[in-house]
Amino acid sequence: TTDITTLLLSRIRDVADYPEPGVMFKDITPLLADPAAFTALTDAFAEIAERTGATKVVGLEARGFILGAPVAVRAGLGFIPVRKAGKLPGATLGQAYDLEYGSAEIEVHAEDLAAGDRVLIVDDVLATGGTAEASIQLIHRAGAQVAGVAVLMELGFLAGRPRLEAALGGAPLESLLTI
Ligand code: PRP
Ligand code: MG
Repeated sequence: TTDITTLLLSRIRDVADYPEPGVMFKDITPLLADPAAFTALTDAFAEIAERTGATKVVGLEARGFILGAPVAVRAGLGFIPVRKAGKLPGATLGQAYDLEYGSAEIEVHAEDLAAGDRVLIVDDVLATGGTAEASIQLIHRAGAQVAGVAVLMELGFLAGRPRLEAALGGAPLESLLTI
């Protein structure tokens, strides 16, 4: 266990039975409120952006916005929001994906990605992988490449990794913590 692992883990709060009974919610607000921890996280993600040759950072609404935007600034790259459907005013590409009950849709401004872009996708948690997989599909449909997916936490018991590896086609899935 490295120092950064210990630091990040110490700033994630477990909240039992939220948002529903039986779920252990991983609350990152203590990490966001600690400048040393938030800086260490941002630096670790920015190093992944540089190592994977990313030209853009995509953040997944909502918590991926908070974590991804400072990574883009630190790495000197543009930031692109992938939003829940209906929030972006311009011409969008949309991708539906299944939830445990029902479905959801995410969108990106089509003009924000082009052939030649290599995108690092940033989010807080990889759970089932549904959100990240849909974002990979969206980026590919926009004509861009995926440099990798970077998450703070991977919930290993939900098998998001094997699901994403098929969609990633060799690009890395980097998780700083596996829970
Ligand atoms: C959460 C989390 C990830 C996603 C992971 O987002 O922030 O984005 O679920 O789940 P998955 O791997 O099963 O797709 P959520 O939409 O619940 O909330 P947020 O808007 O606060 O980020
Ligand atoms: Mg989210």
